[in-house]
Amino acid sequence: MPSASTPALLGNPEPRGLKESWRSRDGESRLVRGDHMELLASLPADSVDCIWTDPPYFLSNGGTSCHAGKRVAVHKGAWDQSQGVAADHAFNRTWLAECRRVLKPSGTIWVSGTHHVYLSVGMALMELGYRLLNDIVWEKPNPPPNLGCRCFTHATEMILWASKSAKGAQNRYTFNYADMKAENDGRQMKNVWRFTAPGTGEKRHGKHPTQKPLALVERCLLASTHPGDLVLDPFAGSASTGVAALGAGRRFIGAEIDTNYCKLASKRLTAADLARPPSETP
Ligand SMILES: C[S@@+](CC[C@H](N)C(=O)[O-])C[C@H]1O[C@@H](n2cnc3c(N)ncnc32)[C@H](O)[C@@H]1O
Repeated sequence: MPSASTPALLGNPEPRGLKESWRSRDGESRLVRGDHMELLASLPADSVDCIWTDPPYFLSNGGTSCHAGKRVAVHKGAWDQSQGVAADHAFNRTWLAECRRVLKPSGTIWVSGTHHVYLSVGMALMELGYRLLNDIVWEKPNPPPNLGCRCFTHATEMILWASKSAKGAQNRYTFNYADMKAENDGRQMKNVWRFTAPGTGEKRHGKHPTQKPLALVERCLLASTHPGDLVLDPFAGSASTGVAALGAGRRFIGAEIDTNYCKLASKRLTAADLARPPSETP
């Protein structure tokens, strides 16, 4: 449940042309169809506890990859095309600045990426005054082979974790240290995490080309939020962030621009909402 100090939530996106795609039964969580900047602009300053997001990596630039043993074109969508280093960085700075505005002073942000994007994201985070806390290395045990054989096969993604406030600030960010240690058999948890890509169970409602494993997102949220906290994802895709948030008893708000991905996300969110224990529902 929301804490007493949590504002009633979520601005009012409708006047700005955003369409609500999904709302939870208790009305506390929702997904809107539309541009991430419109959703962000509709949210009050200092209103969000945590952001977990997986922005465009700018990977779809005419290259190829290996899928099911075959060479396939990397084309995840026009949204994933690079506009050049300077334009890509300006894009990252713009949305990360808005994210910083809507985060509470105690809030933190997680941003996933490969080397195509995380260098820019890391730079933008520093430029905007965030404090970098960790670079989590997500290791994939079964990566596709590198068909070009001119470099190592890519088996990792990076998730940068940063706080809004500087070191020593009055509002301390949440880190559930003891929970993470307990999850790691009583040993301090390292920043290298091994998770398989989402299996068929997580894709039973349909496929998204860059779907993230729920276990990965869930660990981040369990580490950095409390039950009832509000989690935002401005690039929701199939709403893995939302599904993980609901499963962990947190609230969710997200934006997704693509109609078909919104439909997929809404199915997943509805299933996650229905699976919540009665104590967490109206
Ligand atoms: C990397 S994917 C996120 C995948 C997600 N983490 C998941 O597990 O399904 C990025 C998503 O951002 C969406 N997107 C791209 N540009 C957008 C924009 N301007 N506003 C909102 N969503 C956008 C894309 O349609 C895509 O679904």
